Amino acid sequence: MNDHLSTAGLTTERLRRYTKAEQDEILGAGADPFGVADSGLTWLPKEDHFGIRLKGRLVAHAGLLRLPLSIGGAGTEAVGVGGVAVAPDLRGQGLARLVVTAALDHARTMGPQYGLLFCRPPLVPLYQRLGWRALKQDVHVEQPEGPVVMPLRTMWMPLRDGADWPTGEVRLLSFPM
Ligand SMILES: CC(C)(COP(=O)(O)OP(=O)(O)OC[C@H]1O[C@@H](n2cnc3c(N)ncnc32)[C@H](O)[C@@H]1OP(=O)(O)O)[C@@H](O)C(=O)NCCC(=O)NCCS
Repeated sequence: MNDHLSTAGLTTERLRRYTKAEQDEILGAGADPFGVADSGLTWLPKEDHFGIRLKGRLVAHAGLLRLPLSIGGAGTEAVGVGGVAVAPDLRGQGLARLVVTAALDHARTMGPQYGLLFCRPPLVPLYQRLGWRALKQDVHVEQPEGPVVMPLRTMWMPLRDGADWPTGEVRLLSFPM
């Protein structure tokens, strides 16, 4: 268990905008703050944005985007979660948990049964701790040159009671988020 921040002074909100400036406010202007540049992937921007402010300063973000996919040949949709970021000086205090929880509360109202995210292997235990489950199979995602196997780990989360991940080949029918 972390030493979680007291909620005094913290506000969770839906953000009206999330541009490079807001991302830089959280993560700084480093070249590859998510550590995924090596993958060479083309990503989609998120549509809905949730943030946490500490005394007015934006310190955490999670984004959502509805995505089409097929599982075992059957079309469905997922809510993709991405751009999860916490200010470097405030990590390890529960802010990712707080902001992802706020985003998922909204994701549950959007309709799809599954939440979906892609992450680097070292982050799998963190997301498992937040209730996400690792998919052990390859997942294809669209890229400008056509479908490729996602080199990062894929995790999912039920957004409705009883939602279970079907068996079969998984294809994201869009760029990843
Ligand atoms: C990844 C990142 C968002 C985590 O933020 P954070 O605020 O430090 O995370 P939290 O403190 O909320 O931790 C979430 C939970 O995971 C747990 N956890 C953290 N590291 C863990 C690990 N290695 N193994 C198991 N659990 C772990 C925490 O204890 C916490 O659980 P708890 O609330 O039950 O104590 C942050 O490090 C970051 O912004 N990194 C750079 C950007 C990035 O890589 N984003 C990920 C995109 S997928």
